[in-house]
Amino acid sequence: MFLHIVFLLSLLSSTSHATVQDFCVADLKGADTPSGYPCKPPANVTSDDFVYTGLAEAANVTNIINAAVTPAFVAQFPGLNGLDLSAARLDLGPGGVIPLHTHPGANELLIVLQGHILAGFISSGNIVYQKVLKKGELMVFPQGLLHFQIAVGKRKALAFPVFSSAFPGLQILDFALFASNFSTPLVTQTTFLDPAIVKKLKGVLGGSG
Ligand SMILES: *[C@@H]1O[C@H](CO)[C@@H](O)[C@H](O)[C@H]1NC(C)=O
Ligand SMILES: *[C@@H]1O[C@H](CO)[C@@H](O)[C@H](O)[C@H]1NC(C)=O
Ligand SMILES: *[C@@H]1O[C@H](CO)[C@@H](O)[C@H](O)[C@H]1NC(C)=O
Repeated sequence: MFLHIVFLLSLLSSTSHATVQDFCVADLKGADTPSGYPCKPPANVTSDDFVYTGLAEAANVTNIINAAVTPAFVAQFPGLNGLDLSAARLDLGPGGVIPLHTHPGANELLIVLQGHILAGFISSGNIVYQKVLKKGELMVFPQGLLHFQIAVGKRKALAFPVFSSAFPGLQILDFALFASNFSTPLVTQTTFLDPAIVKKLKGVLGGSG
């Protein structure tokens, strides 16, 4: 009997030593590596590390796209580190546009909470899949593909994308071409666009070269 209890106790203590690591809250002061940030010491972790309140408020959409993307990626929400998840908030004014963009590191699940959103993506085979979504409807955008969202009708719209990575990344096609220092001759040569259009868009979006 005594041996039995000793055995059970040793089993219990060995399992407690072998507990899996439940989480790895990012220590944002550490290096951001492809496998994530180093973990905050468990003694420093609090409930607040697992909660993000930064998407509760509507963002200012007074800008050229009449829309705003507010990220809740690991840099904003350290509790996501290592969990292969993140989110964002899309605020669109009437007619607002999230221009063609990709998330190189994640699939996206878009959840529409308000308004009507025309959303779509372009496959690698150059087929367009698009749909007008309303409140409560969801659409998926496979990893790496160019996609867009537009508020249709006279109402503003609100949606929350969820991503299958804490590092989804975001590259906006027009910003890559016209807000960067990719030179006008090279943009013209590689896109076949008219140089006057390239110069105009660079002027609007702040590109150089
Ligand atoms: C953990 O908490 C201790 C004591 O408050 C502090 O000195 C230390 O810098 C913290 N470490 C991190 C990585 O936040
Ligand atoms: C929204 O942004 C615009 C342009 O930056 C600014 O003029 C305006 O005051 C902002 N509105 C609010 C409510 O902050
Ligand atoms: C663009 O700018 C970056 C830094 O601002 C510089 O390192 C890079 O060489 C530039 N590229 C070209 C093609 O000018």
